[in-house]
Amino acid sequence: MKTELVNIKNLKEFAKNIYDNLGGRNILLLRGNLGSGKTTFVRNFCEILDIENQVSSPSFLILNTYIDNNKKEYHHFDFYRVEDELELDYIGFHDIIENSTDLIFIEWPDKFLNIIKKYNHRTINIYFNFIEDNINVREVQIS
Ligand SMILES: Nc1ncnc2c1ncn2[C@@H]1O[C@H](COP(=O)(O)OP(=O)(O)OP(=O)(O)O)[C@@H](O)[C@H]1O
Ligand SMILES: [Mg+2]
Repeated sequence: MKTELVNIKNLKEFAKNIYDNLGGRNILLLRGNLGSGKTTFVRNFCEILDIENQVSSPSFLILNTYIDNNKKEYHHFDFYRVEDELELDYIGFHDIIENSTDLIFIEWPDKFLNIIKKYNHRTINIYFNFIEDNINVREVQIS
């Protein structure tokens, strides 16, 4: 399914739709070039949940954890700077995946896709693409 997001309001509606339909123990694999909107999607998702921690690109941290008003935890990984799978052990990746009951977001998942797939969680792929010359327009594709 392809959707065109012409502005951030559209992105928020897209995030709301994901929340309504795909909440639960699913892993969202967020793909797309640098600056295509992966982190912005997570930020908008968290705004829907009234999560107050600041959502930033976890590129330097590898992992951000957000907690909503019902104490549900949402984990947000960014593997862009991860070089070695040992780093995943250090940040508790395996425990988090094993024990997670809520959505997990992963930017740049392809580096460690084999590890992610070992856990039989449902994975949903979301691709973010630049289209047109307008810097605010994105195309998202879910599969
Ligand atoms: N429709 C849109 N959807 C998503 N982002 C948009 C849109 N319009 C403009 N933007 C802007 O594009 C930028 C996307 O940056 P963001 O950090 O989310 O990208 P990213 O895919 O996470 O990149 P990286 O791979 O570096 O982590 C933000 O500055 C955001 O405000
Ligand atoms: Mg990002």
